[in-house]
Amino acid sequence: MTIAQISVHIHGLAVVLSLIGFILRGIWMLKDSPRLKARWVKITPHIVDTVLLVSALIASYLMFWRYGVNPDYVTVMIVGLIVYIVLGLFALRLGKTKAIRASAWVLAIAVFLYISAAGTLKTATPFLSAPTTTASVSAR
Ligand code: HEM
Repeated sequence: MTIAQISVHIHGLAVVLSLIGFILRGIWMLKDSPRLKARWVKITPHIVDTVLLVSALIASYLMFWRYGVNPDYVTVMIVGLIVYIVLGLFALRLGKTKAIRASAWVLAIAVFLYISAAGTLKTATPFLSAPTTTASVSAR
């Protein structure tokens, strides 16, 4: 297995952990749970998200950027990550009312799922275009 492949696997694992953590923290936010204030609950997401980003940068460099290539779905993931971070900030910290926080939380999860679909299917429009299969190519 190459370093690029290992990086993509680590990235995928961090993606799953990040989503589970974000959903959990959102539920605790909605229930006003004191667990949200626990030290490990505050620190762990930073570690997971750093791993998510660093592994993504290594994979992007090894697979694309060093050859001067940047697929549109990688751009989707970079812009999507920024949108997800901002929505996440409103969901868990900046939102003034619970309605605003809950809306930002749901939107952040939707953005996250869109980015994940783009990464898994390797297309910027995962819900519009069907992935091209060998069968559909040879049928043309
Ligand atoms: C919230 C942010 C992100 C999510 C949810 C996400 C999600 C995913 C998922 C689910 C995959 C497929 C993993 C697999 O096949 O095992 C993937 C692959 C990938 N992601 Fe991300 N990603 C995010 C951010 C980023 C960023 C910021 C970059 C670039 C700097 C990036 C670069 C890549 C690359 C290069 C791949 C491999 C694509 C390929 O195999 O052709 N991702 N991502």
